[in-house]
Amino acid sequence: MYRFCLLILLCLCAAFTKCDNDNNKQKLPLCGTCTCVFDNDQLPAKVNCKDDVTRLLQAESTWINPLNNQSYEYSELTLTNQEIMFLNFTFPTSKLTYLSITNSEVYRIVNSPFKNLENMVTLILSNNGLDLLMPDSFKGLYMEERYMPLRSLKELRLDHNNLHTLNMNLFEHTTDLEILDLSYNPLKVIDKHTTIAIDSLPFLKELYLGYTQIKTLPDQIMHTPIQLSILDLSGNPIEEIPETLGESHNLTTLYLNDTGFINITKNSGFPEMPSLKNLYLCNLRNLERIESESLSGLSGLQELHICNNIKLTHIDDFAIAKINEHGGATWPMIKKLNLFDNKLGYIDSDFLSRWDLLTYLNINDNPWTCECENQWLIEDLMPTYKKINPENANSVKCGAPIEMNGEHFIDLYERQYKMRCLDIYGAKPEQDAFMLVGVLIGVLIALPAILFIIFAYQRRWFGLFNMCDNSPAAYTRRFYSSTPRDEDF
Ligand SMILES: *[C@@H]1O[C@H](CO)[C@@H](O)[C@H](O)[C@H]1NC(C)=O
Ligand SMILES: *[C@@H]1O[C@H](CO)[C@@H](O)[C@H](O)[C@H]1NC(C)=O
Ligand SMILES: *[C@@H]1O[C@H](CO)[C@@H](O)[C@H](O)[C@H]1NC(C)=O
Ligand SMILES: *[C@@H]1O[C@H](CO)[C@@H](O)[C@H](O)[C@H]1NC(C)=O
Ligand SMILES: *[C@@H]1O[C@H](CO)[C@@H](O)[C@H](O)[C@H]1NC(C)=O
Repeated sequence: MYRFCLLILLCLCAAFTKCDNDNNKQKLPLCGTCTCVFDNDQLPAKVNCKDDVTRLLQAESTWINPLNNQSYEYSELTLTNQEIMFLNFTFPTSKLTYLSITNSEVYRIVNSPFKNLENMVTLILSNNGLDLLMPDSFKGLYMEERYMPLRSLKELRLDHNNLHTLNMNLFEHTTDLEILDLSYNPLKVIDKHTTIAIDSLPFLKELYLGYTQIKTLPDQIMHTPIQLSILDLSGNPIEEIPETLGESHNLTTLYLNDTGFINITKNSGFPEMPSLKNLYLCNLRNLERIESESLSGLSGLQELHICNNIKLTHIDDFAIAKINEHGGATWPMIKKLNLFDNKLGYIDSDFLSRWDLLTYLNINDNPWTCECENQWLIEDLMPTYKKINPENANSVKCGAPIEMNGEHFIDLYERQYKMRCLDIYGAKPEQDAFMLVGVLIGVLIALPAILFIIFAYQRRWFGLFNMCDNSPAAYTRRFYSSTPRDEDF
């Protein structure tokens, strides 16, 4: 009788799938303690645990339904603030595709905790205390053609840990990795073993090495990852572009934010990197100048971000152009140009070949000098700027000279204002008054002095004048004066 009732109940539930679904959802053990989110109110569950659930995680019954021996339907599990220290338990079989264990003080990974997570695509271990990782940590299950792989893993984030180096076989079970994040680890230098480890990832597409205190990249590192398209070197004390970047095959985006460049010159600048499309040079505290042809190796460049550089005063007219032996030049077809918040006073219209082809432009927050050399910014660029980005176009202002400071470009453009020119000596007319007073004072002091000297000279008060005077007249004068007077006839 009891069984019969249960059967009816089950049938009812099956008839109303929502009821069935709700039932299943309530049964997920982790959803009692953690927050579960369901796409379209359907299983599987995305689970987010902010309290310590390490005990719960280690129980088989949290993962496998004892009624049918099937894995519970979790798709994503995010664990924060756990007290794990030693990750020494093995996750039971699960269909998880995403596992994140962050801010959980994980210090060592013992054995192979993830081996049963055969569907896991993303593994995030950021913000822990990892200082040593062994290849076994990422070991998976037996597979004929591969060596015990974590077969689905594509993305591994190990940022904000305490890694100084990588075991050279670290990725032997995760050879399909496409995204590797090592940012904010104190690597200091990419040593041989680390290079070998990274070089064992032929499918790597994104590599994040920001804030790892490295000064350069080792020579071999670009050889194997031929699909590498995004590289982040931000926050490192890099003062010269690593030569090895010239050997990249398919690099499209390069982040060099907050690096140590002072002057980027043709010599310290970019090698030939025709595949590069997007370049970020922002927040460089020491950058002062971007010199001629320093970016000319980037013939495929489409997006250029040079922003928030508090000392950058000079970008050469031909910084990105490539000058050929006949004196002509070619430019990459820049589509997005961001020059926001530097210390630029002047930019030449030759910097780009076609400003009118831009789809994004920001030149705001620079102390633009509103003199005739920048007249083109008002006359030629403003119509384009207004079209692309009216908000920025309306707010861009002059920063110099004093009497133009704060003037809006848009007003000058509408008034068809002709900005004044420096005179041929480069003097600034508004300083002429000071100069005139200076000259006057100079003359007033010098005049009596000169009169005195002429007077003294005529009186031959100082023999010195004669000594220094080498004119023939002076010579004869000296000759005669050295002749004793009594020999005169
Ligand atoms: C589940 O598996 C265990 C051991 O693997 C077995 O003893 C049990 O009978 C199984 N239960 C069901 C419902 O299949
Ligand atoms: C796992 O590590 C914890 C500390 O994080 C420790 O208390 C526990 O005994 C370890 N368990 C095993 C099986 O090693
Ligand atoms: C280069 O990267 C682009 C996308 O970034 C990709 O479509 C292309 O297949 C890659 N080429 C090679 C040879 O990996
Ligand atoms: C950068 O360039 C400026 C101007 O050419 C020069 O005065 C300065 O010494 C250079 N600094 C370095 C570190 O090369
Ligand atoms: C680089 O800086 C730009 C501008 O601040 C920012 O938009 C971008 O996200 C930064 N990228 C990295 C990887 O630091």
